[in-house]
Amino acid sequence: MQPHLSQIGQKMSQLTGVRAIMKDIIETLQSEPGKWVNLSAGNPLILPEIEAMWRDYTQQLLAGPHFGEVVGRYGASQGYEPLIEAVVDWFNSHYGWGITRRNVLITPGSQSLYFYAANCLGGVDADGMLRKIVLPLSPDYTGYGGVTLNAETLQAYKPTIDIIAPHRFKYRPDFAQMQIDDTTGAVLFSRPCNPTGNVISDAETQQIVDLAAQYNVPVFIDSAYALPFPNLVFTEMTPVFGENVVHCLSLSKVGLPGERVGIAIGDERNIHALECFQANASIHSSRYGQALAAQAISSGELARLSLSVIKPHYQRKAALLTAAFDREMPNDVPWYLHKAEGAIFAWLWLKDLPMTDWDVYRKIKQEHVIVVPGSPFFPGLKEEWAHKQQCLRISLTASEEDLEAGAAAIARVVKKAYV
Ligand SMILES: Cc1ncc(COP(=O)(O)O)c(C=O)c1O
Repeated sequence: MQPHLSQIGQKMSQLTGVRAIMKDIIETLQSEPGKWVNLSAGNPLILPEIEAMWRDYTQQLLAGPHFGEVVGRYGASQGYEPLIEAVVDWFNSHYGWGITRRNVLITPGSQSLYFYAANCLGGVDADGMLRKIVLPLSPDYTGYGGVTLNAETLQAYKPTIDIIAPHRFKYRPDFAQMQIDDTTGAVLFSRPCNPTGNVISDAETQQIVDLAAQYNVPVFIDSAYALPFPNLVFTEMTPVFGENVVHCLSLSKVGLPGERVGIAIGDERNIHALECFQANASIHSSRYGQALAAQAISSGELARLSLSVIKPHYQRKAALLTAAFDREMPNDVPWYLHKAEGAIFAWLWLKDLPMTDWDVYRKIKQEHVIVVPGSPFFPGLKEEWAHKQQCLRISLTASEEDLEAGAAAIARVVKKAYV
């Protein structure tokens, strides 16, 4: 029987962004198992030192006195108290943010946090006005495409593009275009950015925060790849905080995506609204992962291993892939890699590409290499822009051999595409 879906049901029962193309990718990978160079993965790698850390904390939890209470009881919607304390202590002692437990909310992964925020602060308000969720720099995380219950709510802005060296570029927020005003419900962006590896500078971040503060608009800074953990930052970057900032963390890129732990730090009025939203939607996040995270954060081990294991692993991969592209790609074609400033992806721009990103994706597939077409990474950008069909995302989770083989295959396709 076909369900009779509401308007919200129609929107939310469709997959958006990369999830919509994952079906094709999974079927392709299954069609000839073992034959593919997979540069499409969004899942972080399981690094042995990180897995060992989570195993140790799991064993301690199982053997310790709190196990029964952690898994056998409901808790506060705000989160598991020892994790909240660990977060408060960490950010006060390392960043001097002066927060209390009322400034922290734990969510089942950070995706749900953006869902709460987008629908608590965005959409039609009590006066009947549509308040927008502004993505100040597009492209950005594809998952933002699914978070608003009303499709009209999301509004993204084109960036400026700086060519910073031969075959290298960087996106910057375009303040001349960006509209943050009293029709804005909230601002949201990832820093470092999935898919591009861009890090919006401290000064530009502060400028966005100050602009939003004039209209009393909260700014959600998605720090899923930022320091202190997972610390996937390869450039100068300081977390920016303030009264209208909600600093958002995720434990997914530090080896715990299956446990679904997201953390919001912000003004207690914003946190309280999100906490109530969460209580209505899901009661609270799983306490098992929260209990492990409390230990890993308070011992300092999570930040330590992020710096010594996670960051160098992906930084090495980014350098290797960049060198492979410089070696393999034709010099006379206008290809540009985004400056590798963080996260776990490389972002390739094929300027003036005489076909679409999907066409190139299919041609690269014929070489037994899978990348991700770039067009799903522009959620909320309604205007036409050729650039949207000129980019590819390449995952740095692949092995060194696969990254090199993949770059060579992409170069073969690109050479043919431009003749
Ligand atoms: C930039 C960004 N934000 C948020 C998420 C969602 O992460 P979580 O697992 O915390 O829901 C991801 C996942 O890949 C991401 O890349």
